[in-house]
Amino acid sequence: MDGKKISAVILAAGKGTRMKSALPKVLHPVAGMPMITYPLSAFKMLQIEDIRCIVGYNKDLVRSVVEPLGVSCHVQEVQMGTGHAVQCADISTLNEITIIVNGDHPLLTAEDLQKFYDDFVEQSADMAILTVELSDPKSFGRIVREDGEVKAIIELKDASAEVAKIKEINTGIFIVKSHILKEFLPKLSNSNQQNEYYLTDIVEMCIGNKLKVIAHKGHQRTAFGVNSQRELAQATKSLFKSKVNQLMDDGVIVIDPDHTYIEPTVSVGPGTVINPGVYLKGICKIGALCVIEPNVQIHDSQLEDMVQIRAGSYLEQCKVKSQSVVGPYARLRPQTEIGENCRVGNFVEMKKVKFGDGSKANHLAYLGDADVGKEVNVGCGTITCNYAVDKKKYKTEIGDGVFVGSDVQLVAPVKVGNKAVIGSGTTVTKDVPEKALAVGRAKQLIKEGYVKD
Ligand code: UD1
Ligand code: CA
Repeated sequence: MDGKKISAVILAAGKGTRMKSALPKVLHPVAGMPMITYPLSAFKMLQIEDIRCIVGYNKDLVRSVVEPLGVSCHVQEVQMGTGHAVQCADISTLNEITIIVNGDHPLLTAEDLQKFYDDFVEQSADMAILTVELSDPKSFGRIVREDGEVKAIIELKDASAEVAKIKEINTGIFIVKSHILKEFLPKLSNSNQQNEYYLTDIVEMCIGNKLKVIAHKGHQRTAFGVNSQRELAQATKSLFKSKVNQLMDDGVIVIDPDHTYIEPTVSVGPGTVINPGVYLKGICKIGALCVIEPNVQIHDSQLEDMVQIRAGSYLEQCKVKSQSVVGPYARLRPQTEIGENCRVGNFVEMKKVKFGDGSKANHLAYLGDADVGKEVNVGCGTITCNYAVDKKKYKTEIGDGVFVGSDVQLVAPVKVGNKAVIGSGTTVTKDVPEKALAVGRAKQLIKEGYVKD
C-alpha cells in the first residue's frame, strides 16, 4: 500500500452514551491503551501519514491523546450522522484514496486493512465496504444485494422486515476514492428515521453514477464495535487472548492462558514461564528462560534472560539483569536497576537504586536513592533514611563488598567505603571508611535475677 496516496479518517465525535461513563468512548482503555490508538497504530503500520480524527464530545480530551501521535483533529460540533462527520474532515484536501473507520472498533488490525485494500485495488473498485456475515446482525446496517452485486446499505431503523433479515452487515469501514466524497457528501439528505446524514447513502449515489462498489468480506473481529462496558471488557479479553496465543506460538510457556494478562506492547523471550495472574503492562521486554510466578505485575520494565520474579511482586520502570531473583512480595519502583545474580527477597522495597552484581537484600528492607556496589549484603530490616525534614531526597552510597548487618539505618547523605562492616542495630550518620567497622548501639545491661519466682 502506498501510504502517501491515502488519507485515513477516524470517526470519534460520538459520546458513547451506553458506556455510561464521563470518559469519551474512544478513550476507554482496551488492554491498557485508549481504544482509538488501535485503528491509529494500524494506519501507522501501513505507512499512512495523513490521519484525521473527527472529534466532538469532550474534544479537548480526545485531542490531548491523539494529536501527540501525529493525528489532525477536525471538530464536528453537533453529531448529525456519519456522513456529516466525514464532511468535517476538510475533505477538499484529502489524498487520492480515503479509508474511513469508526473509532470504536479496536480489534481491527493492519492485516485486515491491508487485505481489504488489496481487494479494492484488484477489483478496480471506486468504493469498497468491509462487511461481515453475522448470525445475529443486531442493529448494524444491512448490505442489500441484487444479483450478487451490492446495491445499498440500509440502517436497521429504516429497514423493511425483509431487509432486517439480511445477515451481511456494514462494519462501518470503507475505502473510497476521495473524489466521490468531495462530490457526493454535500448532496446527502437526512430524510430518514434518525434525521441523520448517513455516510452509507453514498453507496446508492455511486451505483446511480455507474461507479463500482464492492463488498469485501472481512474477519468477524472487524465488526466488533464497543458500545458498552461489557463489550469493552470483551475487547480487552480478546486482545489478551491473541497476545498470549502469539507468545505461545513463539515458545513462551503459559500455564493458564485464560488468566494471563499481557498487553500488546510487551515482548517475552522463548522458554520463559508465565504463571496465572501475571499482568504485564506497557513497554516491557522480558528475556528468555525467565520464570514469572503467580500474581506478579510488571510495567514498563526490562528483564534480561533467566530472571526469576517470585509470586506477588510489583515492578515498575525498572531493569533486572540476568539470573537475578526478585521476590516473593518485592516492590521495585522506578529507576531501579538490579545487577546480575542478585537476590531481592520478600518485603524489600527499592526506589531509584543501582544494586550491583551479586548483591543481596533478602528480607524486609527499604532502599531509596542509593548506589549499592557489588557483592554487598544488606541485612534484614535495613533502611535508607533518604527523605529529610527539608523535604529533599538524599543519596546513600555503599561500596563493593560491604556487609550491612540487620536493622541498620543509613541516614543520607552518607557513604560507606568498600568492604566496610556495619554492625547490626547501627544508625549510620557519618561516612564509613573502607574496610572499617561502624557500630553504634546502646550498651547492653544485664540485671541477674530480675524475674522473681
Ligand atoms: C454506523 C453505520 C452502520 C454500521 C455501523 C457499524 C451509518 C449511517 N451507519 O451505524 O451501517 O453498521 O456504523 O458500527 O453510517 N460518529 C460521529 N459523528 C456522528 C455520528 C457518528 O463521529 O455524527 C461516529 C461515532 O463516534 C462512532 C461512529 O461514527 O465512532 C459510528 O457511529 P454510531 O452511531 O456508533 O454508528 P451507527 O450510526 O449506529
Ligand atoms: Ca447512530
